[in-house]
Amino acid sequence: GRRPRVLSGIQPTADSFHLGNYLGAVRNWVAMQDTHDAFYCVVDLHAITAGHDPETLRRRTRVGAAQLLAAGLNPDRCTLFVQSHVPEHAQLAWVLGCITGFGEASRMTQFKDKSSRQGTERSSVGLFTYPILQAADILLYQADAVPVGEDQRQHLELTRDLAQRFNGQFGRTFTVPSAFIPKETAKITDLQDPTAKMSKSASSPAGIIDLLEDPARSAKKIRSAVTDTGREIHFDPEAKPGISNLLSIYSALSGRSIPDLEEAYTGRGYGDLKKDLAEIVVEFVKPIQERTATYLDDPVQLDKLLAVGAEKARSISAATLRTVYQRIGF
Ligand code: ADP
Ligand code: NA
Repeated sequence: GRRPRVLSGIQPTADSFHLGNYLGAVRNWVAMQDTHDAFYCVVDLHAITAGHDPETLRRRTRVGAAQLLAAGLNPDRCTLFVQSHVPEHAQLAWVLGCITGFGEASRMTQFKDKSSRQGTERSSVGLFTYPILQAADILLYQADAVPVGEDQRQHLELTRDLAQRFNGQFGRTFTVPSAFIPKETAKITDLQDPTAKMSKSASSPAGIIDLLEDPARSAKKIRSAVTDTGREIHFDPEAKPGISNLLSIYSALSGRSIPDLEEAYTGRGYGDLKKDLAEIVVEFVKPIQERTATYLDDPVQLDKLLAVGAEKARSISAATLRTVYQRIGF
């Protein structure tokens, strides 16, 4: 039968993706190219909800796409595109917004978190309706599954509710997607505060490994990562969050199992592990940086790849929107 379809997006809100983005998301995207009919987008519409600079956004969108290609997305095996290149996202979001209850939207905890940081009065309506746009992203492609982290579960529930509601009211139109938590998903924590997730918005520079930063800097950050006072190299995220995070990164980048690493480092110190991991991280980021630079050095080719991706995406999204418009009486 046909492969299950997945859709996933990443925001171009930083100059570089970080190691958490790669190990928690992008690595799975690369793997799913061969098992799924995979749609991936750089979600620039989502990146303007809290104020932005146009030139910075333009640069980050291109660098984001180049990094995804450099990390292993292959346009022959997946559909990679920029959200704003496909007008149906905004068009469907309007329609879905009209079947979303204000109370229902108000219950989204991510809005509550983000808006309380900047003040609810000053938050944009776009930040408030963000989950509706996310629902449109997914439903346009009739995705069967959406790879999500725990933090996105509530938004996926809203997507499912909206799909079911629309189908019930206007006739079967959307596939109701299920959540899909890939088994290899690593949760990477902040190197300086190993109980918090590595995050572009919350981590300090020393706590986050950017894929495009100077590898010597990354190595230094690994070597000065916070670890507990014990000496044993043992995986125990509760009692030893720092060393466990380093073991997770090590395992994910080297392909060696955690028990295998624990065994190999028996009787050796944290310093040995950090030194080895620092080298592994450097060897990992170097080719990604080189390939990213190659994509960015040929803007015509990058534009072409993204234009082809947008065309492939539109062949599905335009058909869905046509059905939607017809069903609702346009
Ligand atoms: P951030 O949290 O840094 O703002 P995003 O929200 O843009 O990053 O996340 C993009 C993708 O990367 C999502 O799929 C998210 O689950 C994943 N991700 C982000 N940070 C981490 C992390 N520390 N560990 C694992 N996955 C992560
Ligand atoms: Na997130």
